[in-house]
Amino acid sequence: MTGKVQFDFTDKVAIVTGAARGIGREMVKAFYQAGSAVMAVDRDLEGLKETCEGLGSRCQYTLTDIRVQAEVDSLMGLVEDRFGGLDVCVNNAAVAPHTALLEERVEVWDTVYAVNCRGTFLMTQAAARLMIAGGRAGRIINFSSAAAKRGSAGGAAYASSRAATESFSRVAAIELAPHNILVNTVSPGLIDTQPKPLPPHMEKSLGARIPTLPLARPGWPGEVADLVLFLASEASGYITGAVISIDGGSSVGTRPAGAVVDDDVRYDWVTGAQRDG
Ligand SMILES: NC(=O)c1ccc[n+]([C@@H]2O[C@H](COP(=O)([O-])OP(=O)(O)OC[C@H]3O[C@@H](n4cnc5c(N)ncnc54)[C@H](O)[C@@H]3O)[C@@H](O)[C@H]2O)c1
Repeated sequence: MTGKVQFDFTDKVAIVTGAARGIGREMVKAFYQAGSAVMAVDRDLEGLKETCEGLGSRCQYTLTDIRVQAEVDSLMGLVEDRFGGLDVCVNNAAVAPHTALLEERVEVWDTVYAVNCRGTFLMTQAAARLMIAGGRAGRIINFSSAAAKRGSAGGAAYASSRAATESFSRVAAIELAPHNILVNTVSPGLIDTQPKPLPPHMEKSLGARIPTLPLARPGWPGEVADLVLFLASEASGYITGAVISIDGGSSVGTRPAGAVVDDDVRYDWVTGAQRDG
């Protein structure tokens, strides 16, 4: 085990979208605890209030639908008014409905793309404009998913929308580099964000899936927040355009179920001789 890492974001300003629950809520708290001013953004007012409860005036919240350009522009105006500029924008808000391809409704498909892709684009563009106008070197952290790289039933809209975010972020990294704005993408695997108790079908499928993950456990929202703070910090000053997995190894394989079984014991691999019996 290594030592504890602490980041200092004193005098910095961060936006976190999708802040009403899950990973977003944890990131608001992490930036706040590291000294940053934070604007928590979501379309769920009650959730936002809960996220910011007990935090001081350095944490503020606002309702914004990231699909709507006028709302995104108002958000940037509000951040400038309240905090005087912007250093970090974390585009975490997303929707993740899963439906069989043959049953997929076009309205749901369009909603997934409107939130996950258009919303990420609008937020990235508006945040970069505000950072550039303020003469600040900035950090933009977008979100993808392990599902972007791996086919899984029911994920046609979600998985492809997350892959689009990765591709978009690579272009943004190139175009914003001359402005000293670094753009990276975080790609989580299974993170334990769901309110408990789980519906029985989810309990069953997760119960089967978790033991197959290389680390045999889900990730915690705080572990994702740690990675995001690293990407927002001076410690990551030479990283841009990267997609960084935080998935307990699930994108590279499954947990070994037992001893290695594919060694062909009929041969001596050093001499090439066939073994007896
Ligand atoms: N939880 C996981 O296991 C997991 C796995 C892979 C990737 N991810 C990614 O991590 C991020 C966070 O995941 P989570 O599980 O914490 O999500 P979540 O579903 O718990 O929270 C998403 C938040 O986004 C908000 N939101 C949705 N549409 C919005 C809109 N149009 N405008 C503003 N806010 C909106 C929701 O109200 C909600 O509060 C997402 O980008 C997701 O794709 C999560």
